[in-house]
Amino acid sequence: MDNLYEEAYRQSMEDPEDFWEKAANECHWYKKWDKVLDDSNKPFYRWFSGGEINTCYNALDWHIENGRGNQAALIYDSPVTNNKKIYTYLELREKVAKFGGVLAGLGVSKGDRVLIYMPMIPQAAIAMLACARIGAVHSVVFGGFAANELATRINDAKPKVIISASCGIEVTKIIPYKHLLDGAVEMAEAKPEHCIIFQRSMEKAEMINGRDLDWNSLMAKAEPVDCVPVAATDPLYILYTSGTTGVPKGVVRDNGGHVVALKWSMKAIYNVDAGDVYWAASDVGWVVGHSYIIYAPLFMGCTTILFEGKPVGTPDAGVFWRVIAEHKVKCLFTAPTAFRAIKREDPSGELIKNYDLSSFKTLFLAGERLDPDTLKWAENKLGIPVIDHWWQTETGWAICANCLGLHHYQVKKGSPTKPAPGWNLQVVDQNNQQVKAGEIGALVVKLPLPPGTLPTLWNNDQGYIDSYLEEFPGYYKTADAGYIDEQGYVFVMARTDDIINVAGHRLSTGAMEEILADHPDVAECAVLGVDDKLKGQVPIGFLVLNAGVTKDHNEIEKETVQMVRERIGPVAAFKTAMVVKRLPKTRSGKILRGTIQKIADNKAFKVPATIDNPVILNEMEQALLNLGYGKARK
Ligand code: COA
Ligand code: AMP
Repeated sequence: MDNLYEEAYRQSMEDPEDFWEKAANECHWYKKWDKVLDDSNKPFYRWFSGGEINTCYNALDWHIENGRGNQAALIYDSPVTNNKKIYTYLELREKVAKFGGVLAGLGVSKGDRVLIYMPMIPQAAIAMLACARIGAVHSVVFGGFAANELATRINDAKPKVIISASCGIEVTKIIPYKHLLDGAVEMAEAKPEHCIIFQRSMEKAEMINGRDLDWNSLMAKAEPVDCVPVAATDPLYILYTSGTTGVPKGVVRDNGGHVVALKWSMKAIYNVDAGDVYWAASDVGWVVGHSYIIYAPLFMGCTTILFEGKPVGTPDAGVFWRVIAEHKVKCLFTAPTAFRAIKREDPSGELIKNYDLSSFKTLFLAGERLDPDTLKWAENKLGIPVIDHWWQTETGWAICANCLGLHHYQVKKGSPTKPAPGWNLQVVDQNNQQVKAGEIGALVVKLPLPPGTLPTLWNNDQGYIDSYLEEFPGYYKTADAGYIDEQGYVFVMARTDDIINVAGHRLSTGAMEEILADHPDVAECAVLGVDDKLKGQVPIGFLVLNAGVTKDHNEIEKETVQMVRERIGPVAAFKTAMVVKRLPKTRSGKILRGTIQKIADNKAFKVPATIDNPVILNEMEQALLNLGYGKARK
């Protein structure tokens, strides 16, 4: 069973250029590359340099030329608005070409940045593809982020135009976007020339004269434009992701390597073919949304689903099964948290029985650790392969996966399987030495990374080196710790930095600490991620107040919760802050976050030998108990 996978993996390691050149030959190029892998400026490796390509052409036009014009390209399914709409490849191209015309008419051209802050509506996909069509660089910002986060991204990307909508819908709540956008633009130093607003019927946004333009009016008079060839190494998009501080990292994706790797992954990993229906139940604001709602399924000539809803509550825990049955989805990709939510509402899977799921062949999960209970539940209830795969915003596609299209299907519980072809994954110790099978260390990838991964950070080559390449020379640091067993199965255990995963959303506790520390009464603080049955992890914060503060502690706690919500956004799910007298530290003054976290999760822990004052740890244990954590959990 493993042979095709083993063979592909071997080839990708022995002759990566030949391996990826074959994949590149399956894509449309205006001009083929001079070099498959350009290593003339190490450690900045570039794929397909000298080549010219257009991402939108590969996603739409090429399929139309090959007879797929009348096939559904994108199905918008929105239980929150009771709306469904099918766009064929021809229809989607028409909209995208026109919106490309709108952007070009506003002076947006190759290399200009366009920021997209939108809910899960087709206009978000149209905007992304239109940018790709004219060679502009899009930067999509997730709707659950607050104005402050948006402003940080505006300042870094300096977009000429921002595209937004009047509102998003969270289950039944209407979330107006416009005041967040206006607030962000006001805060930002870099001002866009224009904002294009898609007005939704449930909420009308007030427009700012001269700056704001109406999507529909612009589209009504727009002329379609053709695809603009760009260098394979030109940026397609910037996607900001949490780093270890409040400043997010601008992950860059190029055009050429991205088309090649993502198209290849559709068959090799997900085992889908042109014409199949593929559904990534995520959000366009995340990397999964970029790679597997928009780009990869369209590169492959599939039908992709854009779902505006939640796994539960829109209207019930059967909605995933309804969408699969109705649109004949072959492969679903989502985060384990979505399945935990479904399982909680419908533990015996009764709602599954109401639907014909005969089209449904595979479930892929990623974004956070797949807990054994969720895996078992999904396997039992669905009776199809349930595949855990591991990747990151930076990598753009899976580092480890059961490569179903290469007939590799063997699940070891707790493991996202083996490295996918292209990934020379190793486990090293602090001295950059490989450790033995089964030993935990840093999961690192030997350079060069395969195509489709980040070539650098936006306008920040040094930041790219500092964040990913410096600590383990010759390797890319994933910042995940784990081990590889004797059979080559990889186990991802924990982040080595302050990143936590909340409902599949990546957040930095350091960024939250920066906000809490800004409260005038807070002298010192610590935020950590604790286990949560639904969301995987949730952040909790401890506050030490300045001497002499007499204000009610409850009030201060509430204020800090509100500050995180206002500055990062509701997506941070920061709901618990607690005032404590002091924080447990080492003698050198380092806060014992790891130990506090273990206590909170009721896991075994050792009191560190370097602890300054063990009494403080006991106090912390008591504080956690009062919050319902630690021993109170079981
Ligand atoms: N725009 C505005 N607000 C948003 C938002 C968006 N796009 N997405 C989430 N929020 C808000 C929610 O309304 C919620 O606000 P609240 O504090 O006022 O209730 C908060 O952010 C937290 O949202 P979320 O983490 O989604 O929690 P939830 O309790 O609403 O739903 C799940 C829980 C598990 C159902 C939900 O997280 C889910 O569907 N997850 C799927 C995972 C996923 O798509 N991951 C992406 C990587 S694959
Ligand atoms: P993001 O960049 O938001 O995709 O988050 C990437 C991080 O999520 C990784 O570095 C891991 O810590 C975690 N992650 C993603 N997929 C998995 C998985 N299958 N198993 C364990 N952790 C995962």
